[in-house]
Amino acid sequence: MEIFITEDYGQMSRKAAEIIAAQINSNSSSVIGFATGSTPVGTYKELIRMNSEGSLDFSGVTTFNLDEYFPIKGDDPQSYRQFMYENLFSHINVNKNNVNLLNGEAEDWEKEAAEYEEKIKRAGGIDLQILGIGNNGHIAFNEPAESFSRWTSLIKLTQDTINANARFFGKEEDVPKKALSMGIGSIMAAKKIIMLVSGKSKADAFSKAFYGDITPQVPASVLQFHQNVTLVADKEANF
Ligand code: GLP
Repeated sequence: MEIFITEDYGQMSRKAAEIIAAQINSNSSSVIGFATGSTPVGTYKELIRMNSEGSLDFSGVTTFNLDEYFPIKGDDPQSYRQFMYENLFSHINVNKNNVNLLNGEAEDWEKEAAEYEEKIKRAGGIDLQILGIGNNGHIAFNEPAESFSRWTSLIKLTQDTINANARFFGKEEDVPKKALSMGIGSIMAAKKIIMLVSGKSKADAFSKAFYGDITPQVPASVLQFHQNVTLVADKEANF
């Protein structure tokens, strides 16, 4: 595991963007797994800047996103679909046909999940997966549980996560109680993983995940078993 501890959020974002850009520059048809949340927003701004300056080309890139609330309409401003278009996809030259997002309106979530896994496989797997971490150690929407989930499935969100995400919805009651999420197995299948961690509020989850026991109660701890993880954390997150 490679670990970069940066001075602040800005430096974390630049470092992360450099790593993602290096992946795309070494293989222009890379398959990139994207994450939502506040943490990667600065990284996405850097990627947009590189793309507009001409040093980074997304035209051959395929994308998969980790998760989506369920149910939620695709045009709901709080959907992760909207988040990704607003914060990245609308501002870069990615081919929109190569953008893959879980459908929060799917009538049959099991079919949606199985097809999503199939699409990842057909694309040749994920070359670089970007991750954030929840306050309770979750990755994507894989909440602390009795066992590690394998593949994409429907997850019941914990009260912790609902509270943490209420800031985007205005009030807690409006946060969907479930989400479709890539599983721990799907995430671990990525060839490389980059995790971004920022701020004091993540210090506890960060230390449990990378310096504690590997347990499904701290889903991110499973990354200790992955062969190619890069951690980019700012000083505040590094307890
Ligand atoms: C959500 C997302 C995660 C993300 C987490 C942390 O729960 N499903 O993928 O890592 O939020 O978000 P933030 O970066 O806003 O703290």
